Amino acid sequence: MLKMKFIPVIVLIILSIAARGQQFKPNAQLLKTIEANFKKGSSQYELMMKSLEPGRFPKTFDAKNNKLVTSDSGWWCSGFYPGTLLELYAKTKDTALLKEADRMLTLLEKEQYNKTTHDLGFMMYCSFGTALKLDPKPAYQEILINSAKSLCTRFDPKVGCIKSWNGQKNEFLVIIDNMMNLELLFWATRATGDSSYYKIAVTHANTTMKNHFRTDYSSYHVINYNPETGKVQKKQTAQGYADESAWARGQAWGLYGYTLMYRETRDQKYLDQASHIASFILNHPNLPADKIPYWDFNAPNIPDALRDASAGAIISSALFELAQYASAKEAKVYFSAAEQMLKSLSAAPYQSLPGTNAGFLLQHSVGHLPQKSEVDVPLSYADYYYVEAMERYTMKTKY
Ligand code: GLY
Repeated sequence: MLKMKFIPVIVLIILSIAARGQQFKPNAQLLKTIEANFKKGSSQYELMMKSLEPGRFPKTFDAKNNKLVTSDSGWWCSGFYPGTLLELYAKTKDTALLKEADRMLTLLEKEQYNKTTHDLGFMMYCSFGTALKLDPKPAYQEILINSAKSLCTRFDPKVGCIKSWNGQKNEFLVIIDNMMNLELLFWATRATGDSSYYKIAVTHANTTMKNHFRTDYSSYHVINYNPETGKVQKKQTAQGYADESAWARGQAWGLYGYTLMYRETRDQKYLDQASHIASFILNHPNLPADKIPYWDFNAPNIPDALRDASAGAIISSALFELAQYASAKEAKVYFSAAEQMLKSLSAAPYQSLPGTNAGFLLQHSVGHLPQKSEVDVPLSYADYYYVEAMERYTMKTKY
């Protein structure tokens, strides 16, 4: 009799495990749109490469002056253009894109030794990491290992974090965005068998989980630690509306970051964290019906505040992955929200018209509004995560 009592519990456990990793049925119409978008994406990026000056990387488009705005290889976004080219090439087999990606990778290579930035994950994993998946060249592997080594030089065991911004002597600044750079470290442990990269990633994620989040699971942007004691000195939101506001892209980085933490470690606490962040975003009263967030969830002029397409693209991509790990009930919510985001981004006003926007796929992102920089513009990372979300929607992604 006692054993019989446990049968429903056992059935429930089996059902809930079976529900994880489930496949959803993509919408046939949206799949068609996405197929067309990949083709359009190839043409758009062919257009972009024509106006790119030698040695430069695309950042955004200055519509007023009809000019592609660019950076050198040291800018945190330099990996997104080659990464997007490679993702589009993987879909369309347009060899012009591959040739251009190879050219850009050569320009980017030297950043493997850059110890002045925490953004090496963005710069090197989104580019060389994508290249390695398409073509497992030992040279790419070596570049990525050196990049991981450079990134680890910024880790401080007293604070338990990788340093983000290079602040004053008496501060150790860590931003939520830094969660995205941990993917490179997990890869490095798998590639080398050296667990120190893994340990640094886990320590950074745990410290961030402890200090960056509010009780509602929204996050601050910047935590200022005392470099001597590791104690928190200040909590701020530099790129958002106010220190206590929820800057949209910061929430997106956190969601994506803890989803990847679960993928890499299978530690339940990271899945719980990602689910809490997803709840904050998806249940927020200021999330619009098309599910593309305002640039800050607490922007003062909602509903007239600017949207941030980049946050929409990052959240969409993260939710498609999170849906693979969540319970059946949550997974349904995540998948359908991510699908709505993808649908919205694939239409006006976010989707650019062919032959316009200097080749960028998306419009209406916000880079750094308080600094009046990159406001309501296309951005290379909005395109990168949009293409990734589209790829994930086709259900062929191996995590
Ligand atoms: N600092 C990276 C971002 O603007 O999201």
